[in-house]
Amino acid sequence: MSVNEKPRVLVTRLIPDVGLRPVLQECRAEVWEEPLPPPRDVLLEKVAGCEGILSLLTERIDAELMDAAGPQLKVISNFAVGFNNIDVEEATRRGIRVGNTPGVLTEATADMAFALLISASRRIVEAQEYIRQGNWKTWEPLGHIGQDLAGKTLGIVGMGRIGHALARRCHGGWDMRILYVDKFRNEAAEQDFDAQRVEWSTLLAESDFVSVHVDLNSETEEMFDRDAFVQMKPTAVFVNSARGPIHNQQDLYEALVGGEIFAAGLDVTNPEPLGLDDPLLKLSNCVIAPHIASGTVSSRNGMAEIAADNLLAGVREQPLRCWVNPN
Ligand code: DGY
Repeated sequence: MSVNEKPRVLVTRLIPDVGLRPVLQECRAEVWEEPLPPPRDVLLEKVAGCEGILSLLTERIDAELMDAAGPQLKVISNFAVGFNNIDVEEATRRGIRVGNTPGVLTEATADMAFALLISASRRIVEAQEYIRQGNWKTWEPLGHIGQDLAGKTLGIVGMGRIGHALARRCHGGWDMRILYVDKFRNEAAEQDFDAQRVEWSTLLAESDFVSVHVDLNSETEEMFDRDAFVQMKPTAVFVNSARGPIHNQQDLYEALVGGEIFAAGLDVTNPEPLGLDDPLLKLSNCVIAPHIASGTVSSRNGMAEIAADNLLAGVREQPLRCWVNPN
């Protein structure tokens, strides 16, 4: 195939080599190598004439961008399992394939959710800050008292792959009782961990830990608002490693300050990145990470491989390995 016959694609950030290499070999690829995302006007320029886009969750892929790309655009391959940054309905209407990267980040994300759960419960970050500020003078019988984990109740919101992997950790390792809410019944979780599918209000009232593992969509946006937080136990820990807009951040702040809940562990915030003046950063009972749940070697390599496969299959008009809109 001559260079000019190769499909033109845009890769919106540097991704691991295992994915970038085949794309560079098989396509006329432009790669945005800056650490920050391309500004919107630059992105709109760069997609013009492309048959494929390998995008990140930081890029809004909507009708305007599809128009800017042109009618030859065949595939949008997202380097993420979540695809709330893409207008999938619009892509489908135009016959554009959309791909994502499920599976390969399940264990890493469940690890992160658990890390946040235990850090927030046992006040680990706050305790480190206490040392750094020179406050550690002696062993304190009444200092830094956190929440127990063993035998407690974990409420999982969205019992998909990641919810199941977190339940496996908490039930197997900490003997937790597992409650969940989901549109669908998860028989494997019910068999494996005796998980009980319950009403939303039951999950909120009975859980010691509530961990979010749903997609962001119009039904889940701000499902954790004031009304939800006040139904939770004052000793409860809220964990979000899914998407920031699933919680209302002002309501979360007020719940943490007002003692409606004990603590929160967040890998995702609204907005992202969080401004340095954001009030959440001032709270000792909120542990925050910069959206790094999939940040392990095997997860990111796996994501790169799938995203590249999806992109190459899409420009060849073949079925995608992980296809969001096959129908
Ligand atoms: C995803 O894949 O959706 C994560 O948020 C980033 O890895």
